[in-house]
Amino acid sequence: LKLPDPGVASKRVAREIGALIRQRASENRNCVLGLATGSTPIRVYRELVRMHREEGLSFHNVITFNLDEYFPIKPNAAQSYVRFMNEQLFDHIDIVRTNVHIPNGTIELEAVPGYCRDYDELIATTGGIDLQLLGIGRTGHIGFNEPGATQDTRTRLVKLDNLTRLDAVKDFGGMDHVPLLAITMGVDSILQSHRIRLLAFGEHKADIVQRAIEGTMTSAIPASFLQSHRDVQYLLDDAAAECL
Ligand code: GLP
Repeated sequence: LKLPDPGVASKRVAREIGALIRQRASENRNCVLGLATGSTPIRVYRELVRMHREEGLSFHNVITFNLDEYFPIKPNAAQSYVRFMNEQLFDHIDIVRTNVHIPNGTIELEAVPGYCRDYDELIATTGGIDLQLLGIGRTGHIGFNEPGATQDTRTRLVKLDNLTRLDAVKDFGGMDHVPLLAITMGVDSILQSHRIRLLAFGEHKADIVQRAIEGTMTSAIPASFLQSHRDVQYLLDDAAAECL
C-alpha cells in the first residue's frame, strides 16, 4: 500500500488498531497487540494517544507484547525499549500495566532461554497476537531477526548486525556503548500473528523494502518471510516505495 506520507499511513494503522480494540471490547474480549520500537511507529502511538484523549478509546482490554529489547539493558536507560514504550504510549493511556510485556533486558544470561520460551508460551495462551506492528531495519531485520535468521526461529537471544549497531550509534552516543546482543521474538513468533502491518518510511528504506517484498524468500532478508503470511500489509510512503 503506497500512501502519500507517513502521517496518512500511521493514521490508517492507528484507526485499524482502534477499531479492533473497540470491536473486541464490545464482545467482552481482549485485544492482543504486537508492538514495535524505532522512529517509524512513533506517529501511530501519537495517534492512539490522541484517540484515547479525544475519542475515549480505552485500552482496558488490551494486552501488548513488544518485539524486542537490547541485552543487557536497564529498563530506565535512555535507550531501553521499556522507557521508549512508556514515553511514547503507555504513560499516556489507560492500559493495565500487568498486560504489558516487553522482553526483559536485565535477567541473568543463564535464565534467558527459559525466559524466551515462556514469552512465546504467554503469547500463545492469550490466543495469539491479533495485530503485529512492524518496522524494518536496513539489514532487512524484523524485530531483531538479523540476516541468517530462519523462518522457524522463536523468541531468543541474538547478536546484532553491525549495520544495525551503526544505526543505533546516534541513540547510544558511540559504537562502544551499543549492546552486542538483544532478545527478539523470532520470525516464526511474528508469523503466528493474525494480522501483520509493516510500516516503512524514507528513501533509506526503499532498497530493502523492494528486496523484502519482491525478492525471493531468504534468511538473508528475514523480512522476506512475511511474503508467506496471509494477512500482511506494507504501508509505505512514496520514498520507501520508490524501487517497487
Ligand atoms: C530497531 C528495532 C526494529 C525497527 C528498526 C527500524 O532495530 N528493533 O524493530 O524496525 O529499529 O528503526 P527505525 O524505525 O527507526 O528505522
